[in-house]
Amino acid sequence: MLQGHHLMGGHWRGGGDTFTTRNPSNLEEVVGEYPVGNTQDACDAVDAARRALPGWEKFNTQGRCDILRRVGEALMSRAREIGTLLAREEGKTLREAVGEASRAAQAFFYYAGEVVRHPGQFYNSLRDGHNIIVSYEPVGVVSLITPWNFPIAIPAWKAAGALAYGNTCVLKPSQFAPGCAVMLGRILEEAGLPAGVFNLVHGDGGVLGSTLVAESDAVSFTGSTPTGRSILQTAAAHMTKVQLELGGKNPLVVLDDADFETAVEVALQGTFVQTGQRCTGTERLIVTRGIHDAFVERLAQRVAALRVGHALDEPTEMGPVATAPQLEKNLMAIERARGEGAQLAAGGHRLERPTPGHYLAPTLFVNTTSDMQLNREEIFGPIAGVIKVADLEEAIAVAADCELALSAGICTTNIRSAERFRRASPAGTVMINAPTAGIDYHVPFGGRVPSGYGGRELGAAGAEFFTEIKTTYVNHGSA
Ligand code: UN1
Repeated sequence: MLQGHHLMGGHWRGGGDTFTTRNPSNLEEVVGEYPVGNTQDACDAVDAARRALPGWEKFNTQGRCDILRRVGEALMSRAREIGTLLAREEGKTLREAVGEASRAAQAFFYYAGEVVRHPGQFYNSLRDGHNIIVSYEPVGVVSLITPWNFPIAIPAWKAAGALAYGNTCVLKPSQFAPGCAVMLGRILEEAGLPAGVFNLVHGDGGVLGSTLVAESDAVSFTGSTPTGRSILQTAAAHMTKVQLELGGKNPLVVLDDADFETAVEVALQGTFVQTGQRCTGTERLIVTRGIHDAFVERLAQRVAALRVGHALDEPTEMGPVATAPQLEKNLMAIERARGEGAQLAAGGHRLERPTPGHYLAPTLFVNTTSDMQLNREEIFGPIAGVIKVADLEEAIAVAADCELALSAGICTTNIRSAERFRRASPAGTVMINAPTAGIDYHVPFGGRVPSGYGGRELGAAGAEFFTEIKTTYVNHGSA
């Protein structure tokens, strides 16, 4: 069992009440034990980060780059160990989990490079004898509040970005899967990060969140839209800079002219990879008439054939649902969809496996309409509804008929249709002949309100969020 602690100012701190996590593939197995943080712990973590700020801000550039690179190397070389812990605590398959650990490593490699590409500009002034330097400074103490569905990749890409530009940070990982954050803290320490630059506090976001938001200079949050809204309210009161990555109800449009096999694969991957627990996952399949029946038939076969099992078993293609509340939510969504008249083409029920776990059959509904609750609220599970439409224009309208606007995809071989969809889509991320989920680290990622707020993350957007601009006018006096 992993014994996790808070990390504050270079000290691993336990004490007080604890909470445990259990393996969703085998609920008899306790995975980790962690301290329950209170508001004082949150304050202490922010204070530690604030004390470390001046030193990290002026830390040697090559030194900062080297530390981030060493973290990337450690994450990469220990990807299997981290992936195994992740799969045990969160329930994604070992292959998905090891892939996620490598992705975390790549984020550190990317931001190690960004340290030396720190942005800045030089302008001639409008005034004779003056220059202007635009420089980018750290924002200060940044709180990173992260979800259970990517317990190493999201903490890694947020922390790497924050640290690269000279900020110090406090990470508050999800209490459903905090083990990888502990590993990350240890790795950062071993890589030579000075004490207090990275701090970790465990516990309930409802208890710790408002203190972290109030006391920090900036907060980067990934999670649900309702939680994002409440963070925003606190942030507004304290003028804390925010970056919110929130929910999705992502549509995938499949047109008659789509490459059939590509479309089926794109739908399957987008909907069911990682047990559907990605904010970028596909939950609405909008399919034109001509291809509808064949597409639904093939997709339903593929869905029914997915091997659901223990995350660490080699043949498993889809792990269990990560948490008990999420399983409950999925089952309620299935019940409600049936009540609304949606028809099951695959799944719709729990599964028994040799070990007790949150196993759910991947679920596909057909004959659904855009006004059903099934197609309006984010579920965050391996559940999707198919909506039949007449043509591209109706598909565009249906895809936009939902206030969430994170990711949207289209499968078509017609470049005009693809471009028409790309322009018309309100989503922040558009995928053409590719699953709605699965993003690169070197380009901006995020959605429009209410799927995101306050700036995108990753790529150039990361630099924007994690820095403050200073414009300096220099009267150098020469002609
Ligand atoms: C991806 O689709 O590769 O929590 C990443 C999430 C998103 C990240 C998705 N913030 O699912």
